[in-house]
Amino acid sequence: MDPFSQLIFTISVTSFLTFQWLFHKVSPWMSTRISPGFLSLSDKQKVEWNSRTVSTFHALLVGIFCLHILLFDDAVNEDPVWGDPTLVKTNVAITTGYLISDLLLIFYYWKAIGDKFFVVHHLAALYAYYYVLGQGMLPYFANFRLLAEFSTPCVNQRWFFEVLGYPKSSRPNMANGVAMAVVFFMVRIAVMPVYYSRMYAVYGTEAFYLVPWGGRVAWICSSICLDIMNIMWMHKIARGCYRVLRSARNIPNWLQGTLLRNGPGIFSVGETSYNHWFDGMSIINSFSFKDGEVTHRSRFLRSDTFKANMSENRIVVSEMGTMAYPDPSKNFIFKAITFLNHTVPDFTDNGASNIIKYGDDYYATSETNYIRKIDPVTLETQDKVDYMKYLPVNLASSHPHYDKEGNAYNIGTSIADKAKTKYMLFKVPAVAEKVSDKSKFVPALKNVEVACTVPCRSLLTPSYYHSFGMTDNYFIFMEQPLKLDILKMATAYMRGVNWATCLKFCPEENTLIHLIDRKTGKLVETKYHTETMIVYHHVNAFEDDGHVVFDVIAYKDNSLYEMFYLSKLKENPEFHDDAYCKPSYRRFAIPVSDKGIAVGEDLVKLKYTTASAVKEKEGKLMCQSEVLCQGFELPRINYDINGKKHRFVYGNCVEESALSKQIAKFDTETKTMVYWTEDNCWPSEPVFIPRPNGESEDDVDTSYFVTSLMAYDESALGI
Ligand SMILES: [Fe+2]
Repeated sequence: MDPFSQLIFTISVTSFLTFQWLFHKVSPWMSTRISPGFLSLSDKQKVEWNSRTVSTFHALLVGIFCLHILLFDDAVNEDPVWGDPTLVKTNVAITTGYLISDLLLIFYYWKAIGDKFFVVHHLAALYAYYYVLGQGMLPYFANFRLLAEFSTPCVNQRWFFEVLGYPKSSRPNMANGVAMAVVFFMVRIAVMPVYYSRMYAVYGTEAFYLVPWGGRVAWICSSICLDIMNIMWMHKIARGCYRVLRSARNIPNWLQGTLLRNGPGIFSVGETSYNHWFDGMSIINSFSFKDGEVTHRSRFLRSDTFKANMSENRIVVSEMGTMAYPDPSKNFIFKAITFLNHTVPDFTDNGASNIIKYGDDYYATSETNYIRKIDPVTLETQDKVDYMKYLPVNLASSHPHYDKEGNAYNIGTSIADKAKTKYMLFKVPAVAEKVSDKSKFVPALKNVEVACTVPCRSLLTPSYYHSFGMTDNYFIFMEQPLKLDILKMATAYMRGVNWATCLKFCPEENTLIHLIDRKTGKLVETKYHTETMIVYHHVNAFEDDGHVVFDVIAYKDNSLYEMFYLSKLKENPEFHDDAYCKPSYRRFAIPVSDKGIAVGEDLVKLKYTTASAVKEKEGKLMCQSEVLCQGFELPRINYDINGKKHRFVYGNCVEESALSKQIAKFDTETKTMVYWTEDNCWPSEPVFIPRPNGESEDDVDTSYFVTSLMAYDESALGI
């Protein structure tokens, strides 16, 4: 071995030993002093931390050396293929020592930092360096590739911030993200024309043909492969950087508080599975906003249903779309008791539909008589409250209304109580009863007041409803031709069908609109009828010049529920169902009185709507709605103006299918929408948050609407 080769070998060995020393000694010693968070890391994280510290040191060392050569090494710049490689060899020798050191660490700590990609990368680099160190060829190009090392510290820093718990939107993280995007672009993308123009300049020359085949392959192929990967990484980094910067801009400091969400989260227990999406066991999510940052937490609702299912390791509590049958191994008496339980069903307390507030308490609710109190901070499941203890309702809506004082208003169905079936609108006062025993929980429902009862059109087939409307002076309730057949429900278990099959859609019947005077608690005498439709969500209602105007999202039939059977979803995960019937955003305007108006006349005098209400006979109006838009669901308004005239509505676009990938702000005056969407994300219902002391309904550019997202791609979550 000639003296120079001996020197290069010595540099490689020294480099190897130095990087080992840095990993085992210097990094742990230095990290504990510079970053106390290092001590609280797990052993695996400490290994990766030390590995990345060494990687950063190496990157800076060889990067600076590389830059020096590119700027000042005339020999290499004049002859990029065969120029004097002394300095380049030195730099490559340092990197060779580092790569071998890192390879050994990767293998030794495989569980902590093992990564096949890095092994391939290091081996490929060592193969290329063999030609540089052994034969002194291609010094310019070998050195040039080391320029890429300048982006490594930012990549490592991103990991350091992550493991130390810095939020993605924190300033250090964002600054590093931007630096990473800029440096990556400068040292890996922007330099490509220079690199390839030099390669093109020497291609086909005598110097080029002196490079053996193996060297040419190592040079050209690896350059192209690496740069294709660089372009892909650049795209990912730039996209993530853009998202983080945009999300940071979107969380203002005044946005403080918690968004609570629930929905189905578990669909199988043991060998058993639910049939319908809405049946899944509830999971609660919270998104807490504070000082421009958001923290997510989630927890399964520990309902009695959850506990019973989990303890039996099978679904034992029936849901609307899933009838639970006893284990075939159980004895006759057990089966008989189960049968009786399903004849007069004791409903589930699996609150997966909405979160409601009664008094100071938050409840996870579905539409049964049970609601489950939850701690809004820890999301722990607390008391189970039964509506029937306080008023005779077997079912209750999970979309109550609230007034400015915090009183809640809701509607329930009282089935065959004292031989009558009726709908009950009730008020839950905001102020709970004071109790001397602080440990005893007294629900606000204890002080419930019945605001009004509405007789059902038939004793055994009450209407299904999901929400209702409320203005300052009126409740609006739509008794629609989607009915619960009580007799069928009582026999469903015996017949081997689920309760959802007992929902009866009666297209031959029209929809009856009830207007209830909140002050007297009495129904307005006029009967309002409209065409057959199914409404799940009321948007808002308001009073205007002797009319009650109310907006709803209406469907022509009940196919929506059918679409959410899991068997159908598995067949058709994109929800592109030809049978999909998109909903219409409809506006009704109903005159409060029809006194003194001739039969056949339209009573609606409002200029801004084409909705009509034609008098058919004394005390009966036939109402026709105006369709404002289509394919829009889960509507929310600025709730500060609930019951007052609104212009803007926020919701999910369901134009193509019931699966929403877009949320929108709908202007009811211009009938236009503005949209928000993000690749690979499914947004849930948007909630409008007005800026404190905002001046207008939508307070453009300063108010926000928040939504929870489901993202299926890691890259969609930002850098
Ligand atoms: Fe709903």
